[in-house]
Amino acid sequence: MSDIVLDKDKIPAHVAIILDGNGRWAKERHLPRVLGHRKGAFNIYEVTKAAQDLGIKYLTVFCFSTENWTRPDDEVKYIMTKPMRFFKRFRKDIVGGNGRIKILGRRDRLSKEFLAMVNDMEESTKDHTGITLSLCVDYGSRDEITTATKEIAKLVKDGKLDIDDINEQTISNHLFTKDYPELDLLIRTSGEERISNFLLWQLAYAELYFTKTYWPDFNKDELVKAIYSYQNRNRRFGGLKDDKNK
Ligand code: IPE
Ligand code: MG
Repeated sequence: MSDIVLDKDKIPAHVAIILDGNGRWAKERHLPRVLGHRKGAFNIYEVTKAAQDLGIKYLTVFCFSTENWTRPDDEVKYIMTKPMRFFKRFRKDIVGGNGRIKILGRRDRLSKEFLAMVNDMEESTKDHTGITLSLCVDYGSRDEITTATKEIAKLVKDGKLDIDDINEQTISNHLFTKDYPELDLLIRTSGEERISNFLLWQLAYAELYFTKTYWPDFNKDELVKAIYSYQNRNRRFGGLKDDKNK
């Protein structure tokens, strides 16, 4: 247990994580990569519980990108089936049975079975009032923004929206995260310091935190460290405020 004391009044409302390092975690242990993904999936469950304990309302994790389809077939198959079964099994229990689960990303390339599972998870947790856990699957931020642009263009074409009425909110309203609070903190594990096409629009004023820890080893202490770092930054949102965290 860490001895860090967090400021309860400055808990970020929305935290996103690029979970990375499952493969390297497995390799270091001479295990197949898929076992890293297995441990990684269990860890989403653990970290979600920790996030809920700390008072985070929205946790958004990058599980599978629009580019991850290029990985070897057996790895893609594993990621797209096994961990999801795990979630289905633990759905009722997730964060005291009161967590809401959402899947963000394209839906047209998911298997029928996977889609059914997704719909079931979303439907059965939609009225829950605990933490909202969003699993980004077949998610790419450029893809998300492109789709939003097409939707907005169609509204203009159909005479339902005046071009002069398009503003930043219009675009936000067409993203998967439309009802979510602003993103406060983005964490990436495993020592990589890239955004990798994740939440590009939503990241506008988020604080970034990178840790060398591989995702399967990331835990509550690590999350507390990330939030502590966030709480000690001077968020100015483009202004000139000097006071910490104002
Ligand atoms: C993250 O772990 C999980 C996914 C992107 C699906 P990686 O599979 O990227 O692990 P490394 O980077 O090879 O260690
Ligand atoms: Mg990786």
